[in-house]
Amino acid sequence: MANHPRAALITGATSGIGRELANCFAKDHYNLVIVARNQRELEQTASELRHQYGVQVLPIAKDLFHPDAPFEVYDEIRDRGIRIDALVNNAGQGQYGQFTTTDINREARHHSAQYWGLRHFHQALPARHGGPQRWYDSAGVEHRW
Ligand SMILES: NC(=O)c1ccc[n+]([C@@H]2O[C@H](COP(=O)([O-])OP(=O)(O)OC[C@H]3O[C@@H](n4cnc5c(N)ncnc54)[C@H](OP(=O)(O)O)[C@@H]3O)[C@@H](O)[C@H]2O)c1
Repeated sequence: MANHPRAALITGATSGIGRELANCFAKDHYNLVIVARNQRELEQTASELRHQYGVQVLPIAKDLFHPDAPFEVYDEIRDRGIRIDALVNNAGQGQYGQFTTTDINREARHHSAQYWGLRHFHQALPARHGGPQRWYDSAGVEHRW
């Protein structure tokens, strides 16, 4: 049993899979750090989660397609003294279609954000905390530790 308030970092928490997982973690009494690009939707999501589940929610507006973004998110978490117990590496954009017609640059940005988000958060968070206890990765990126 944890003797501190548990916290989950959820990227892409304003919509779809990430939003549903935010509900699940909040229902389990995790405080949340939520990340997406749209500040207004982030604030709205944070407000709903606080109101519905009574948990603390820190919204961080960040474009995880930028390579520095995971470090900036980590810095903010560190500076606020938040310990992360669970990571949901989920931000990204699905694209459906045939490789011959879909936008390869968009796919490259998506996979880069997914992979490097996971890689950076994995490296940064355990360095301070001993590592999140739970991981969820929406990307289907293969990874081993
Ligand atoms: N749905 C599926 O069937 C399926 C299957 C396998 C894998 N996935 C993967 O699961 C993830 C979520 O899928 P979904 O269908 O739930 O997507 P979604 O409803 O479109 O939600 C995507 C979330 O990610 C955020 N986001 C997107 N690009 C971002 C960026 N560059 N930086 C920060 N946040 C970003 C979005 O907010 P903002 O737009 O405000 O940034 C939103 O909160 C995606 O990575 C997708 O590829 C989905």
